[in-house]
Amino acid sequence: MALDIDWNALQAAALAAAEHAYAPYSKYAVGCAALVDDGRVIVGCNVENASYGVTLCAECAMIGQLHLGGGGRLIAFVCVGNGQPVTPCGRCRQLLSEAAAPGMLLKTPSGFCTIEQILPESFGSAALGTNSR
Ligand code: THU
Repeated sequence: MALDIDWNALQAAALAAAEHAYAPYSKYAVGCAALVDDGRVIVGCNVENASYGVTLCAECAMIGQLHLGGGGRLIAFVCVGNGQPVTPCGRCRQLLSEAAAPGMLLKTPSGFCTIEQILPESFGSAALGTNSR
């Protein structure tokens, strides 16, 4: 399945998104991109703030784009930090897990993996007794 996805194009989209990063504090420009199950490619960049804890990761912007563009499920995801693939932070793994299609693949520095592999036994809507999926 990983071979069916144009990972070079997805990573190029993430790199282009990183050009828009607002990261004057960390100087760590992040961009991410995901392929949605309807064929859309969505992107995000990090947006920092002088109040550091308010910083938005690239994934936050991207998940906003997912919903603004009509929703859907992510089938492939890549994130780059200062030009290199990185694994998403803990909070963003949680964000991705709720938006992921079953079997969504992530490109990481150590290869391809699923969200379940990097966020095992995740918290989800089932625990709330709601049916948000
Ligand atoms: N960052 C992201 O945008 N995504 C991640 O998954 C990890 C961290 C950003 C937040 C902050 O602007 C900078 O990287 C340094 O932590």
